[in-house]
This record gives sequence, structure tokens and C-alpha cells, in this order.
Amino acid sequence: MNDIKISDSIVYIGCNDYDIDLFESQYVVPNGMAYNSYVILDEKIAVMDTADQRVTEKWFSNLESALSGKAPDYLVIHHLEPDHAGNIKNFIEKYPDATLVGNAKIFSMLGQFFELPESVNKLTVKEGDELSLGSHTLSFYMAPMVHWPEVMVSFENSEGVLFSADGFGKFGTLDTDEDWACEARRYYFNICGKYGVQVQALLKKAATLDIKTICPLHGPILKENLGYYIDLYNTWSTYTPENKGVLVAYASIHGNTRKAAELLGKTLEELGAEKVVVSDLAREDMAEVIEDAFRYDRMIVMAPTYDAGVFPVMEDFLRHLKAKNYNSRKVGIVENGSWAPMAGKVMRGILDEMKNITYCDTTVTIKSSLKADSTEALKALAKEMA
Ligand code: FEO
Repeated sequence: MNDIKISDSIVYIGCNDYDIDLFESQYVVPNGMAYNSYVILDEKIAVMDTADQRVTEKWFSNLESALSGKAPDYLVIHHLEPDHAGNIKNFIEKYPDATLVGNAKIFSMLGQFFELPESVNKLTVKEGDELSLGSHTLSFYMAPMVHWPEVMVSFENSEGVLFSADGFGKFGTLDTDEDWACEARRYYFNICGKYGVQVQALLKKAATLDIKTICPLHGPILKENLGYYIDLYNTWSTYTPENKGVLVAYASIHGNTRKAAELLGKTLEELGAEKVVVSDLAREDMAEVIEDAFRYDRMIVMAPTYDAGVFPVMEDFLRHLKAKNYNSRKVGIVENGSWAPMAGKVMRGILDEMKNITYCDTTVTIKSSLKADSTEALKALAKEMA
């Protein structure tokens, strides 16, 4: 079925999705996506979440193989988003005697997604409740807004396994050989970035548990060096910059703002900035640029004026940052305008809605293309930011 081993009694039954074009209809996933799901085999058998309807057939095949003809006693629902909950109704139709395990919020929302028979067995759990399966015992911890309000995680006490829902997840199928942090960071900031406070609350609960393995709903099962992953989650959820560096995020219509962005990037490097990333918002994956905005401690935004406002892709970028709770960074602003420059004012207005943003003293206005005066202003901005 698969070669992912968690333990003798905890079996992986998740599925890789190699064909998905956009996860959540918005995020490019060049290496696909994994919908993780698990079975705990004991005197009682618990299935830990289902999987997306994109992989229904494969998921049931994995489940049946893990069950070896037995019937499951429980389906534990940690999160109702359809990438995990998509097969709850199919599961209950196949195993009508099984009991759904969820919290009150899960059961209050469940009917919005599926019409289940009145007779379905339900076990409502709350913070700290335990469910014994035999030699395994699950403890439940509520994790609201990591990433939806009904989310909970569970901890299997005998083997030290945390079923962490979306937490510690990552884009990419499980057979993708790539750096964990890169795609976990892009996943985190774009999906959970807004909810740092709630992630912190979950990390505080997790700190009281003797965790040996983390089984997330996406991405690889984490068994070693757990401090590395937990430290990164601490950094990300407190909005602490992970690295020193400058993101230059630009939009350009005909190439003049792009030339200024490239010159600014080169100047920053010459001045010794620790790391410089220059990103074209119109052409690069915006989720990646959002990730970099949170990753580094400084950012310069550069855009032309358009329709007496700012070029749309920059407005979209800044609105995304605001929605994801971008805060506590130093920002520089460069605008371009051929007759009535407005982009700087509009960008500043959106940035002012975010918390604890400090601005460079230098702001730069380019009139159509770089000239001696605007080139000098750009260098002054680079000196402030390097
Ligand atoms: Fe992977 Fe929030 O669902």
C-alpha cells in the first residue's frame, strides 16, 4: 500500500495527489499535495480523518488494506475542511456502526457539508477528554483557528504521537524530496499566517506533552529533531523575522520600475545587505513572495501609479499581507508615476492598516524612468535598508 511506517499499530493510509493544479483553488503546488490519514489498530480501531474526494478510491483502498477485514470503531474528525473531511459521508455509508468522534463545533458544522442519517453514532469530546482504544489512549486538545474554528488535535499517549491537523503541514506529496522548511513556510504563512496567536496557544499545549512523533494532515510524518520544527513554528507564529534580509517586491508595467528594482537589489547587495530577494509580483508565485515578506525583517515595495491608484497586482499583494497579519517590519516605498504619482500614497495607506510597521525616511518617486535625481534617491533608500 505504502512504505510510510509510523509504528506497528499506527498505519498511514493517506494519499498523494499528483494532479491538483491549485490547492484551495489558489496555491500552485508544483510537487502536488498529500492528504494524510491514519488508522490506529488496537482492541478498538480508530481512523484519524478521511481525505479529499479527489482521492476517494485510493483512500478507501488504503483503509481496507489497513483494516484487513475488520470494521473500524471510530472516525476521529480533527478538521472539517473538505481536503480531510471529504469522505465522512462515504465512510459512514460503508461503516454505519462506527462512531464519529469530534468536538461540539465539529458536530454543529458537520451538517453544513453532509446530510448524515439521524442514526449515526457520535461521541462529542472537549478539551482534555480521553478515548481509550485498548493499549492506546487518545487525549483531545482544542486548536480553534488553526486553521478553522472547529479544529482540534489529539495526542496518543502510549506512543507519544501528536495528530496535529493542519499544523506542521506542508505542500507537496510525501515522495517529494525537498527541503521541509521551504514549502512548510509557504504553506504556513499563506494558510495559517493570520492566526499566530492561536498557533501560539496550541504550541503552549503541545509543550506539556512528551511528543515523539508528529502526524500532520499534510506533509511528512516528523519523527526526529522535533525541536527544529517546533522552533520554526514558534518563530513564524510570533511574527519574528526568521532571517535578516530585504525583500524587494515590485510591479512594473513596461519595465521601468523593474529596472529600478534590479538596480536597488544590486545596490543593496553591494552595500552588504545579508540577503536580497527581488520579486516580480506580476510573474512570480505571490504565495512565495508573501512567504518571503514574513521571512525577512525588511521589505521595499515598488509600483507604478495606475487608474489614479496603485498597479493592481501590488494592491493585491498588500491586501494579502494585511489579511495574513503582516506586522513589525521595516518598509521602504518607491512609486512610479508619469503625470500624477499616487502609488506611494495608496501603498502607504494600506501599510498603515498593519501593526508596527516602521518606514524608511527616504521615499522615492520615479517619473516614468530613472533619472539622476531618482537614482540618487534610490541609493539613499538602499543605504537606509542595507
Ligand atoms: Fe488541510 Fe485546513 O485543511
